[in-house]
Amino acid sequence: MEKKKVLITGASRGIGKAIALTLSKDYDLILHASRPESLKNLLKELGPKHAVLCADFSDVEATKIFCNALKKLVGQSLYGVVNNAGIALDKPLMYQSMNAIEQMLNINVKAPLLISKTALKLFIPNKEGVIINLGSCVGETGNAFQVVYSMTKAAMVAMSKSIAKEIALIDKTLNIRAITVSPGFIDTDMTKDLPEAVKEKYLEMIPSSYFGHPNEVANVVEFALSEKAKYVNGTNIAVNGGLV
Ligand SMILES: NC(=O)c1ccc[n+]([C@@H]2O[C@H](COP(=O)([O-])OP(=O)(O)OC[C@H]3O[C@@H](n4cnc5c(N)ncnc54)[C@H](OP(=O)(O)O)[C@@H]3O)[C@@H](O)[C@H]2O)c1
Repeated sequence: MEKKKVLITGASRGIGKAIALTLSKDYDLILHASRPESLKNLLKELGPKHAVLCADFSDVEATKIFCNALKKLVGQSLYGVVNNAGIALDKPLMYQSMNAIEQMLNINVKAPLLISKTALKLFIPNKEGVIINLGSCVGETGNAFQVVYSMTKAAMVAMSKSIAKEIALIDKTLNIRAITVSPGFIDTDMTKDLPEAVKEKYLEMIPSSYFGHPNEVANVVEFALSEKAKYVNGTNIAVNGGLV
């Protein structure tokens, strides 16, 4: 039997890679990274059976081309999207360059927005689909030196909630859901270069007393995508060991 198709953006490393490895047994995947070379290691582990579609989301035109290619690739048989690709360029706001601000807005907000817009149209004929947007605990709490990044992650929460409400108004019989999954401090490339003093400070604030493993986020994404989570919609699921 043909498996359902799920797009995972930013599947080459960290949380996205863990999501790809976790979902690979139950779904046919469309794996994204900024460039094909980034996916070499993952493809060695997964074998050649999954599709690959790459684009640099810092360029909005490239994101539009990616969305068109996605439509061509899946026809009308897309079941899920995991909007995971993201970057954090930390700096006090007053010293942020326009280029860094635009990169974060394009990759963290415009790409998930345009991909969700594309996916919703593809979901309609099958009357089902799930969009998972990767948020962050700082989307709720805010964070020094992450003004732009925190804003982009708060945008994911608003986007998921709004899509859920909008779909219900369009057609109550649609089984289409949108959910945010918001990690806390997860051990990936994104966090590895933070100064030790900063890491120690975070650790003190985490009741579970360790930095999360990418698999621990992937397990929640797997659940959120599944039929078991049919009544989970619009909400923001925290995966943060109690970090507030
Ligand atoms: N790690 C954490 O503690 C943490 C906490 C909260 C939220 N999150 C969120 O979780 C998601 C994954 O984070 P992570 O820690 O796994 O990140 P990561 O290890 O830095 O991986 C980032 C992923 O995004 C892709 N990406 C980066 N720049 C891109 C671009 N210009 N165009 C397209 N794709 C691009 C990367 O692809 P390439 O390999 O090709 O560069 C890579 O697959 C992000 O949305 C992040 O904001 C992470």
